[in-house]
Amino acid sequence: MLELGTPTLKGFTQNFIRKGGEYIKMETEYKLPIEEQEEEKTITSDRKLAHLQICLEHDVQARNITAGLEDISFVHRATTDLNLDEIDLSVKILGKKLSIPLIISGMTGGHAFAQKLNVFLSQAVETTNIGMGVGSQRAALENEEVKESFNVVRENAKKSLIIGNIGAGQIAQGLTNDQFTEIIDMVKADAIAVHFNPLQEAIQPEGDTQLENLHEKITDLIQNHSIPVIAKEVGSGFSLDDIVQIKKIGFQAIDIQGVGGTSWAGVEAIRTLSLKHKSTGEVFWDWGVPTAFSTILAKHNFNGVVIGSGGVRNGLDIAKLIALGADAAGMAIPFLIAVQKHSVDAVIQKIQETEYQLRLACFLTRSRNLSDLKKAPLIISGKTAEIMRIYGIDPSSYLSRE
Ligand SMILES: Cc1cc2nc3c(=O)[nH]c(=O)nc-3n(C[C@H](O)[C@H](O)[C@H](O)COP(=O)(O)O)c2cc1C
Repeated sequence: MLELGTPTLKGFTQNFIRKGGEYIKMETEYKLPIEEQEEEKTITSDRKLAHLQICLEHDVQARNITAGLEDISFVHRATTDLNLDEIDLSVKILGKKLSIPLIISGMTGGHAFAQKLNVFLSQAVETTNIGMGVGSQRAALENEEVKESFNVVRENAKKSLIIGNIGAGQIAQGLTNDQFTEIIDMVKADAIAVHFNPLQEAIQPEGDTQLENLHEKITDLIQNHSIPVIAKEVGSGFSLDDIVQIKKIGFQAIDIQGVGGTSWAGVEAIRTLSLKHKSTGEVFWDWGVPTAFSTILAKHNFNGVVIGSGGVRNGLDIAKLIALGADAAGMAIPFLIAVQKHSVDAVIQKIQETEYQLRLACFLTRSRNLSDLKKAPLIISGKTAEIMRIYGIDPSSYLSRE
């Protein structure tokens, strides 16, 4: 079993933070005082380290809203006549064949500790043949020294589906074509996710909230590169108008990341020392489009690849999203928690459990493969059915389909 080095996870929970290239231990608080946060705006890697720490030490899940997956039920088939272990869960997506339709959503990179997490995650991904996104590569554009924390992903996952990551905010601020090429090359990416996180940025005193001409700038980058580009949220999902806009901009894929899982308004509310931002983060903690409904909207209104994500916690959740029309699913925090157990083994175990749960959902719905699962009858009830009706989508159309 591999052990994490310095700062160890134990050290990490003792509040290490990078300053001037050194890891120093904060005595009581992981947060920089507000004046310093504003002065040190460019130290993206410090912020990313605080995010990891907050996600591991606090409950930052949605509070009074869910991803809506409890409203989705399969119809049980007691008379199933399949061989459980012969069910084909593989999928071809973004140019790679995955053993199961699962992607570890982008989380880390940009500092020494994240490098260790990225090594473990990418080794697990390569072993199990699933996909993986990296965290925002902005830190590596600001500081050459942290590029290695991203490079290690491709070094350890030579064959796997690897997705690069950059924020819409950086594009609005004028990310160049050369910088876009640089982030692709850094992980030899199969696709790049552009994350839209206006809520999260607005809860950061130093956040990027100047987004004028964003759409034109993204279209320009997409047109100048042949790589598939994914529109990704971080936990508030996409509305119908967003999906129409995403199509118009020219994105080839959508990574839903709906509300119901990790709340980034919540993470920032905990991190900030600004009372105004803290209270606003509390108010907007549960803001967004629930994952199940956002996936349904994407299925009905977008022709490209759809990744269902945000609050996905097990293989049955994945099965439900595939049946709602997703091509694959993404999970973030469950894998952060698994890697916290100090080993590649814990991540592989989580992937294997998830695989078995997805397999069982196929077995019990008499689905030989994911194409069958996409047509499996669904009963959609509760709030999700209510919202569908408001949008003119008949929930009962999911009960019998070809
Ligand atoms: C520690 C951590 C760091 C993250 N950093 C990024 C990031 O840099 N870029 C990004 O697009 N999403 C980032 N995310 C968001 C996840 O990709 C995902 O959209 C979100 O956490 C919701 O998924 P979940 O409910 O499965 O956690 C991060 C998530 C976590 C937990």
